[in-house]
Amino acid sequence: MNDRQIHLGLLTHPTGAHPASWLKSSAPRDAATNIDYYRRIAATAEQGLFDLFFIADTPAARTEKLHIHCRNPEFMNRFEPITLLSALAGSTQHIGLGATASTSFYEPYNIARLFASLDHISHGRAGWNVVTSANDYAARNYGLDKLPPHDDRYVRAREFYKVVESLWDTWEDDAFVQDKEQCINFDPDKFHITDHSGKYFKVYGGLNIRRTPQGRPVIIQAGSSEVGKQFAAETAEVVFASDPTLPQARKFYADLKGRLPQFGRSADSLKILAGLSVVVGESQAEAEDKYQELQRMIHPDVGRMRLGADLEADLTSLPLDEPVPVEMIPQKSNFHQAYFNQIAGMIREQKLTLRQLYSSYERGKVTLCGTAAQVTDHMMEWMESGAADGFMLSFHVLPDDLHNFVGMVVPEMQRRGVYRKAYSGATLREHLGLARPVNRHVDAVTA
Ligand SMILES: Cc1cc2nc3c(=O)[nH]c(=O)nc-3n(C[C@H](O)[C@H](O)[C@H](O)COP(=O)(O)O)c2cc1C
Repeated sequence: MNDRQIHLGLLTHPTGAHPASWLKSSAPRDAATNIDYYRRIAATAEQGLFDLFFIADTPAARTEKLHIHCRNPEFMNRFEPITLLSALAGSTQHIGLGATASTSFYEPYNIARLFASLDHISHGRAGWNVVTSANDYAARNYGLDKLPPHDDRYVRAREFYKVVESLWDTWEDDAFVQDKEQCINFDPDKFHITDHSGKYFKVYGGLNIRRTPQGRPVIIQAGSSEVGKQFAAETAEVVFASDPTLPQARKFYADLKGRLPQFGRSADSLKILAGLSVVVGESQAEAEDKYQELQRMIHPDVGRMRLGADLEADLTSLPLDEPVPVEMIPQKSNFHQAYFNQIAGMIREQKLTLRQLYSSYERGKVTLCGTAAQVTDHMMEWMESGAADGFMLSFHVLPDDLHNFVGMVVPEMQRRGVYRKAYSGATLREHLGLARPVNRHVDAVTA
């Protein structure tokens, strides 16, 4: 058995992450709001012994260019993630359950309470993806005209997180003594009030739910800007990375892990999962064909719009078969800096036509087409060369690509001794090899 085991997360979209997935998928037509379908996806991921089942989210439908969005319904119809995961907690037993919730729109008390509840309901399998959000549609649902500037959102996120973390330490683990003879339900000395007054939040209170099975839910993050990385180094336990090449991924990995000592943390206390989409086939050619067929199904309006959204520029009137002019690149980004830089780099260096650009741009991941052996080789190369601790799999087409992965790649990884043959732990922390945090109010020596 190899001592470096591959960790896997599943980034779940109803019919898959690809903009044409809904045209190709074998999922039921109502997949996006079909809880039985989601239960089946989670069961397959659990059968494949994944560490984490994960839901990304933006709390907004799109309100413009609906004649284009109607060809790509990704943002228009979906479950609220924490509610969905609470339901899935009852139909799964082992897999971790991670959801996105934005620090730009929630209040810390809500988040502390929601994720504490999910951690209890799932017996210690909850994870919170802390995001600052990256589009103005969401901002408009919460009293703003547009998102605050990028770095200000992170200032709020940091304060937000500190309050949530403090609320999660309201109760010591053994506070609820339940002594019926003495008529003492809980020990008042083991209840700790959060008294916070900062730039964005004022909170005086305690969480009305006991400390959670994992001590606190696992903290996930995916920012890759300078402030995003600094925030991750301070707080995150899992980071979703989105570098498209091995050298870039190694650089990000070394950079982020290198920041941990500043915060008194060890390299092992943070797991980096690289974004990956896998199309597996009996031969590489078969897998490539499947992928290219899907790529051809992207409607040009959708391809253009998705690229434009990440470049923060309107590309809708540009010709499809001519290079994108360098002047279209905005001076700076306020949304996803990594995606923005990737597209800007492609425009400057590769001189591709608009159609070639949207067909080859991958949003925060690498697409790998190959046999089970080739896919495993790739993952092991990234693991062994210090680029990842595992992978965030975002399949182009669900449930189809997931089934193929679990049926073909999982046995290959197991055969090579780089992947578990059964869950050995009970909580998400245990799957990932993360320590259970000590309550700040308890002396570490006696904890
Ligand atoms: C795998 C992955 C999943 C993400 N999920 C979400 C999400 O669900 N909601 C969201 O608003 N941002 C999501 N993001 C975006 C990041 O969390 C981050 O907010 C964004 O990249 C902007 O931060 P940055 O400029 O520091 O990179 C995701 C990014 C990646 C790579």
